Amino acid sequence: MAGPILIFDSGIGGLSVARALREHYPHAAFCYACDNAWLPYGVREDRTLTARIVRVCRAAVSACQPSVLVVACNTASTLALEQLRAELTIPVVGTVPAIKPAAAASQSRHIGLLATTATVRRPYTQQLIDNFARDCRITRVAADALVIEAEALISGAKPNAKRLSTALAPLWQAAHANVALDTVVLGCTHFPLLKPWLEADAPVPLTWVDSGDAIARRVGQVTDTLVSNRHDGRCFTTAPAALLQTGLAAYGFFAPRCLSLDDVFPDNLPLEN
Ligand code: DGL
Repeated sequence: MAGPILIFDSGIGGLSVARALREHYPHAAFCYACDNAWLPYGVREDRTLTARIVRVCRAAVSACQPSVLVVACNTASTLALEQLRAELTIPVVGTVPAIKPAAAASQSRHIGLLATTATVRRPYTQQLIDNFARDCRITRVAADALVIEAEALISGAKPNAKRLSTALAPLWQAAHANVALDTVVLGCTHFPLLKPWLEADAPVPLTWVDSGDAIARRVGQVTDTLVSNRHDGRCFTTAPAALLQTGLAAYGFFAPRCLSLDDVFPDNLPLEN
């Protein structure tokens, strides 16, 4: 019988991808794993983060025995996809900023990229821009503060309006530029969870593009055995996460259990300067 679809993120951002996947595959089984002990990934140093992502994904794969791993994190995918594919024997589907559909949608040819500090700087992201949006102006906005605001949602808090507006200010400036930005890529899986507040804060109507549907379609291409209810709803974290329980339940996941990593890895890791 087919194994579940395993969704991995640093935190709860992967739930935005879980939502798209459950819509596409209502009869599939899902597991969720997040590295909440190391959240946020977007300000971590690349080398230690790559090793950590591989370590946690290997442990989660061993706990869930999935058919496919969905790395529902742009920060992880733009860094470690190649290594994950080399180390795992199941298909690995990544999440990268939706530059291509945004370039197809933009009339003004001015696009915003809202993502973590790491993702906006990554060579992988630059390659996507070079390949698919060469004729577009790209306003890159690193908004790590929004990751924290999205995390708070899951325990019932509303985003802080001031922190939201401060993080989004560079985008709104670009929306008033001579050639106005008309399309925004949500290049972090946490951000679709904030979409109602992003839309409400925007000074003009904008087109928002995320990767959820594209990932769901890709999952269907890499595995043909998605109908299963074996292990549906299992959830793993790397640190205790009682506060996440109610929010996870709303997405069909059980109370999280702590993932046992295959060896000791320090939780107080270097942050990027
Ligand atoms: N949800 C993750 C992403 O898509 C990153 C959040 C973080 O910084 O940990 O990039």
